[in-house]
Amino acid sequence: MAVRSRVLGTGMCVPDLIMTNDDLTRIVDTSDEWIVSRTGMKERHRVRPDQAASDLAIPASRQALEEAGLGAGDLDAIIVATITPDTIFPSTSCILQDKLGARHITAFDVSAGCTGAIYALALADMMIRAGDARHVLIVGVEVLTKITNWTDRSTCVLFGDAAGAMVVGPCDDGRHGMLSYYLASDGAAGNTLFMPAGGSRLPASHETVDQRLHCLYMKGNELFRPAVKMMSDSCILLAERAGLTLADIDMYVFHQANLRIIEAVGKRLEIPREKVFVNIHKYANTSTATTILAVHEARREGLIGSGSIVSQVAFGAGLTWGGVLWRW
Ligand code: UT7
Repeated sequence: MAVRSRVLGTGMCVPDLIMTNDDLTRIVDTSDEWIVSRTGMKERHRVRPDQAASDLAIPASRQALEEAGLGAGDLDAIIVATITPDTIFPSTSCILQDKLGARHITAFDVSAGCTGAIYALALADMMIRAGDARHVLIVGVEVLTKITNWTDRSTCVLFGDAAGAMVVGPCDDGRHGMLSYYLASDGAAGNTLFMPAGGSRLPASHETVDQRLHCLYMKGNELFRPAVKMMSDSCILLAERAGLTLADIDMYVFHQANLRIIEAVGKRLEIPREKVFVNIHKYANTSTATTILAVHEARREGLIGSGSIVSQVAFGAGLTWGGVLWRW
């Protein structure tokens, strides 16, 4: 029987500090009514100044390892998906390898915007099916509040900080595990969501800092339609590749960037509302962490259980999009 990857444990971590929509009205010209009606967001979590990505990644990873019944020493690879690493280099995955006490294993970061965790899960599946790894830790972690322009109301209300972790391992019962994956990109639209400075194109300087060019920049209304189309197309492709129909899927977990986008995908694909998981009201957009957080919470709420078919789909900077389809 062919080996597939299967999720053995999930975990999540959000910082203690909560920012409500009302808190944001004291920073920029906005309102609870605008944020809720345009995005579905009510609150988001924010790190303290001394906290970085790995500080959220570690507890989330430990929780996922515990559920998997594994120790850090059992891991063969660590893949961290993030656009807000502790440092540009070394990678946050190497920091995690050390802090978790893992062996001298494969460890690298993936930069694929909000689709990063999907890319990481597909890569882990390839490694496991190739026989190169048995147990892989995947972390989607973001501390977006550290790259937020707090004077720009069109972006600063949208993001939060979080880490989600999944431990995957081999499954050869021919039934459970990853049924299909799909990854895609379109760099031509990269300037709709990016961080202008801090890389080799525009290294840090007094000017770049003064102009807040190390902050996230987004043309949100240019991303809305592509987000709906690409996530819808991804769901269709994932099901086709697994020989299933959309109606066979028990739970849809979409990237939580905007409740209106999630609802538009559901409407376009004629998915019953109860099959679409939503937690954007609690965490806002945590980029690559959103779908792992959602899978973790859907499991805790009993909405995903053994045998459930789950479509986990994202869209983000790059542009990138895609998904993974599981039989839990
Ligand atoms: O996660 C990665 C991928 N990202 C996405 O998929 C995001 C996709 N885009 C979106 O979710 C939405 O476009 C946003 C939530 C970002 C914005 O919603 P929108 O309905 O597209 O609003 P808009 O940008 O077209 O702005 C509408 C109005 C503007 O005012 P005028 O020009 O109509 O007078 C904005 O100035 O809303 C104003 N506005 C705000 N008003 C109050 C923008 N931000 C705010 C705000 N509070 N925070």
